[in-house]
Amino acid sequence: MHKVRVVQKLNLLPVEERLRAIQEAGNNTFLLQNKDIYMDMITDSGVNGMSDLQTAAMMRADDSYAGSETWNRAKAAIKEVFGVDNVLPAHQGRAAENILAEAFVKPGKVALMNFHFTTTKAHITRLGGTVEELVDKKGLIPQSNDPFKGDFNLKNLKSRIKELGADNVAFVRVESGTNLIGGQPVSLENMLAVTDICHDMGVISVLDASLLQDNIYFMKTREAQCKYMEPKEIYHLLASKFDIIYWSARKLGFSRGGFIISSDSKWTDQMMEFVPLYEGFLTYGGMEVRSIEAAAQGLLESLDMDYLRQGPEFIEYLVKELDDYGVPVIKPAGGLGAHLNCSAFVPDMPHNQYPAAAVGAAIYIASGVRGMERGTVSEQREPDGTERYAELELQRLAMPRRVFTLSQVKYCADRVKWVWDNRNLIGGLEWTMEPKVLRFFLGRMKEIGYWQEDLVKKFREDFGGSL
Ligand code: F0G
Repeated sequence: MHKVRVVQKLNLLPVEERLRAIQEAGNNTFLLQNKDIYMDMITDSGVNGMSDLQTAAMMRADDSYAGSETWNRAKAAIKEVFGVDNVLPAHQGRAAENILAEAFVKPGKVALMNFHFTTTKAHITRLGGTVEELVDKKGLIPQSNDPFKGDFNLKNLKSRIKELGADNVAFVRVESGTNLIGGQPVSLENMLAVTDICHDMGVISVLDASLLQDNIYFMKTREAQCKYMEPKEIYHLLASKFDIIYWSARKLGFSRGGFIISSDSKWTDQMMEFVPLYEGFLTYGGMEVRSIEAAAQGLLESLDMDYLRQGPEFIEYLVKELDDYGVPVIKPAGGLGAHLNCSAFVPDMPHNQYPAAAVGAAIYIASGVRGMERGTVSEQREPDGTERYAELELQRLAMPRRVFTLSQVKYCADRVKWVWDNRNLIGGLEWTMEPKVLRFFLGRMKEIGYWQEDLVKKFREDFGGSL
């Protein structure tokens, strides 16, 4: 329910140049150049289509170090959507996580969550805390019909808080949807049960709402009690139950930036001092004022089902196309993107040859589509240096919202099917440079053997002179 009025030209390099580009990028899709990419499906973060109203709002940004009207408008939008007054700014989601961790994580404290996210975990462990995951075991079954695979195991949550003692729990964090296990949503029922448990047991409840817009779509389409609720009612209910909510406005709000909110000022008061220290004054927090205006307008658009449904419906289309062909994908379709289950895509490849990264490199070579590794490369090594193998070896094809046309999504499906048909050619990868922290961003790898050259040869046989 939108039309496209601003366009950006794309390049599709010949396959030989795609091979050169991925090898120069150390087989790390993060290190590819945008000019060498046809469809950029690495993330939905900071690359969503902006609306006419967002770009218009950016023109009236009020640039002042302190007390800007832009900030007041952002607070008003947050009040409209979540119904709360206490708001702190941060320059993006992980900056909000840093502030949260600085305020509540101490050495030895444990943060309980349905599933970790890379940057969340890195901030908690940096401060001497640990992360424990309590997602229901249904969340780790790659293919099922369960509508809410991001749900917490409530029994384990209760018993773990009891065992640890409430004082040793930094907070309980609900990630909705769960990024690393396929953008799988959490039901409203489960979220409310988590907040009740936290309340009863005296533990802080936190909602990472970065992917909440997709999650709300799934609540409304998959959960009976939400069918007739307005999205706004759901946002308000969540804000009244969770102690703290934060999000990346690169995702929620189709803009850039980040926010932390609370219905009770006692929580924002505890975090407030870190904002000027790490981010900037309380009325901009490291964000550029035009991004704040766009984030405020984008947040209001996150109340509109016509906008909410665009991402999940395209993702569902891609997942169905691939699934019907036999390509192993995470099912049911979640938010954020389509996720290929690489343990089944290249079943004989061991974790330490990084199957999800290898499939990602193969997809780029075959299509110019850039995805993101969400498997063992995205994990961090244990303190003793041993590899921590990912529960799920995923290659994510993210769907930036309001960006691609359906014919582009069909192209993506078509080329992934070709890679699937030629999966026996895909070989492993090995490190040539491995950073200690968040290695997936900057690490470099090379192919084991010459399988990528063989893939290009097969591409030429099948596609002739075509790109
Ligand atoms: N929480 C979740 C659930 C996220 O998905 C992200 C980012 C963040 C926090 C951090 O936000 O990027 O603004 O600092 N996810 C991006 C992705 C990077 O591509 O999945 P940020």
